[in-house]
Amino acid sequence: METRVHKGPLVIGGGLAGLSAALEAVPVKGVSGGVLVVTPAPLLDACSSAWAQGGMAAALSAGDSPQLHARDTEAAGAGLVESEAVRELTGRGRETVEWLAGLGAPFDRAEDGGFAVSLEAAHSIARVARVGGDGAGRAILSAVVKAARAADHIEIWEDGRLRALVTDETGRVRGAVIERTGGLVRVLAQAVVLATGGIGGLFEVTTNPSALKGEGMALAYLAGAEILDPEFVQFHPTAIDAGLDPAPLATEALRGEGARLVDRQGRFLIGMAADSDLAARDIVARAVHEARASGRGAFLDASKAVGAEFDHAFPAVFAACMAVGIDPRVQPIPVAAAVHYHMGGICADDEGRTSVAGLYAIGECAATGVHGANRLASNSLLEAAAFGRMAGRAAAQDGDVGDVALRPLIVGGDLPDEVMQALRAAMTQYCGVVRDAKGLEALTGVLDDMAGLYPFAVAVTAAKLVAHAALARRESRGGHFRADYPLSKNRAQHTRVRLDIE
Ligand code: SIN
Repeated sequence: METRVHKGPLVIGGGLAGLSAALEAVPVKGVSGGVLVVTPAPLLDACSSAWAQGGMAAALSAGDSPQLHARDTEAAGAGLVESEAVRELTGRGRETVEWLAGLGAPFDRAEDGGFAVSLEAAHSIARVARVGGDGAGRAILSAVVKAARAADHIEIWEDGRLRALVTDETGRVRGAVIERTGGLVRVLAQAVVLATGGIGGLFEVTTNPSALKGEGMALAYLAGAEILDPEFVQFHPTAIDAGLDPAPLATEALRGEGARLVDRQGRFLIGMAADSDLAARDIVARAVHEARASGRGAFLDASKAVGAEFDHAFPAVFAACMAVGIDPRVQPIPVAAAVHYHMGGICADDEGRTSVAGLYAIGECAATGVHGANRLASNSLLEAAAFGRMAGRAAAQDGDVGDVALRPLIVGGDLPDEVMQALRAAMTQYCGVVRDAKGLEALTGVLDDMAGLYPFAVAVTAAKLVAHAALARRESRGGHFRADYPLSKNRAQHTRVRLDIE
């Protein structure tokens, strides 16, 4: 295997978190050189950030404050939010939006020139900075991609898949094995920053690129990193139900504008009150799931609240609807709950430090404690950029590329397509919006069998982390609902999983 020695951080992932880290990881004299960013596909095509519709939550308007934003984030997180991390996050809201605007992100503006903000579920005030109605993710990421391509200290490989983490005999991460078009390359680096995204591809219906199957979490786990709360998966209640994989999203901002969830007969799904559809995401996702399961059907009706304005107010959702033959100006949009975000992941602090020296995790693959059991809408882009930047600065100061003895490698692999489909079906059936012991036991059995046949398949390792933790959590909390334990325990406790490596 070819070896490349890189005297700077290696960032795996080219979404908002990875590129924010890369931009800030400027060389430190005598410590680090430039950054190498590795993504499996051309930038903008390889990550969930570009698909985000709503925008970036930040206290930007009169009447809002980082404290109020923190309070809403904690309330949504159902007892598992880490207050200090949340204060750090919400305190960085404005500076992060301004940094991105400075890079060229064309945030929508209010008449007074300030940032225009939308209302989304479980926010007590409108605070989501948006772009072009529903195009925030792509527009923000495009500005960041442009800056990263122009930065002298950043080199980008757009054909590289993470296959293994390289550790030395002390357990410190020293680099990674990357599969490129020409074969495997072992990159030894000053530090490794994982920004590999979520786990949507482990499920049949996801609003994320389905190539994202939790590789970062699985390989970090195999390298000895602590995994936090992997059972907490967020289901978005309004994925457009048109049989597509991945499923296009109908942004929550539509409900912020007054669109209503109704059944086939046009009866409200959740309640009469105008704000009942803006309850916490897990509550709305369960209502949609149950309405579909019972045959009532679930639809998002924006014909009155948005109507003729739809095409220019929400152009991305409009295009997605029209592509499948639904005119959302006049027709209710059929919706289903779909996997949207992984709250759990690699335990990391606000600078991305994990429990393993030399390894950082940022963005969706990390669990920094800011989302708890249920992420507040549009906090993820803020976290990606704010904590990504902090991690980039920290990684550029950390470690060296020493001449050390390395541990033997476990190189991860893929499942055959039909087995991957079976895994996705089993995760959807047994580890979805509503879970119970019987289903989760069946699931862990299926996954154990797969692990026996395909011991190096990282998707199986990732799925097992989620399934076993879901089985072990005998309560309902946030995104994790157990039909057999429908109540929350009085005391909220984290799940912490770690492989014993010797
Ligand atoms: C949405 O636009 O509904 C998604 C926002 C988010 O998941 O943060």
